[in-house]
Amino acid sequence: MRTKIVAGNWKMNKNDEETEDLLNDLIDKLPSDKEIRIIVAPTFVNLQSAVEHLQFTNIDVAAQNMHQSENGAFTGEISADMLQSVGVNIVILGHSERRAIFKETDATISFKVDAAINHDMTVIFCFGEELKDRQAGNQFNIVENQLRDGLFQIEAKSWENIILAYEPVWAIGTGETASPDQAQEMHQFIRETVRKSFGSDIAESVSILYGGSVKPENAKEIFSKPDVDGGLIGGAALKASDFAGIVNGI
Ligand code: PGA
Repeated sequence: MRTKIVAGNWKMNKNDEETEDLLNDLIDKLPSDKEIRIIVAPTFVNLQSAVEHLQFTNIDVAAQNMHQSENGAFTGEISADMLQSVGVNIVILGHSERRAIFKETDATISFKVDAAINHDMTVIFCFGEELKDRQAGNQFNIVENQLRDGLFQIEAKSWENIILAYEPVWAIGTGETASPDQAQEMHQFIRETVRKSFGSDIAESVSILYGGSVKPENAKEIFSKPDVDGGLIGGAALKASDFAGIVNGI
């Protein structure tokens, strides 16, 4: 059985006090009896307090990014060691906003993946096509290249550190969601692509999350697809009742 996962990417939202309020609300509202891994990713400045706050819960804390170097003259950046020193062992890498706004390339992302794995961290590896790619019928090529160029350099044994998150860029923060069938079609392709390079055991055991305007109203149907193992949630992760509604859709 693959692990079912729902992760909330808070992006650049919630100050210290608001973070504490949302965490308290989540502790109240999230089900504790589900066979599911729940992850939240607040901003860097609130990671340490989130880890402390969630210590005795079933909710894990992730960072939204990190730098690939161990330390040094990289103004404004955060390393794997720094994250681990405050108890964070999960990191989101390759998010489309990092790619589009901060110009991260597949090569940069591959170095970050390697650095995270060297630290035995779990990586939520994000990828997905833009609208123009889908309109041109190029979505499968784009997704395959992002996987090969950003992730497939890892060794087979490192796959236990990987969670995949397929996030079509045209569905992120737009209110537009891939249909459950579009999500399933792509997730099946992703699993097949992993299988070709790393074999069936790894392909069958890696969790593939869908991201892009998941809400309580559409979560259940998307999550019901056989190759969709959960979701990476943006906007709807900022309200505990919505996030809990999504978790209950698993
Ligand atoms: P969204 O964001 O749920 O607001 O579309 C998803 C994401 O960026 O991970």
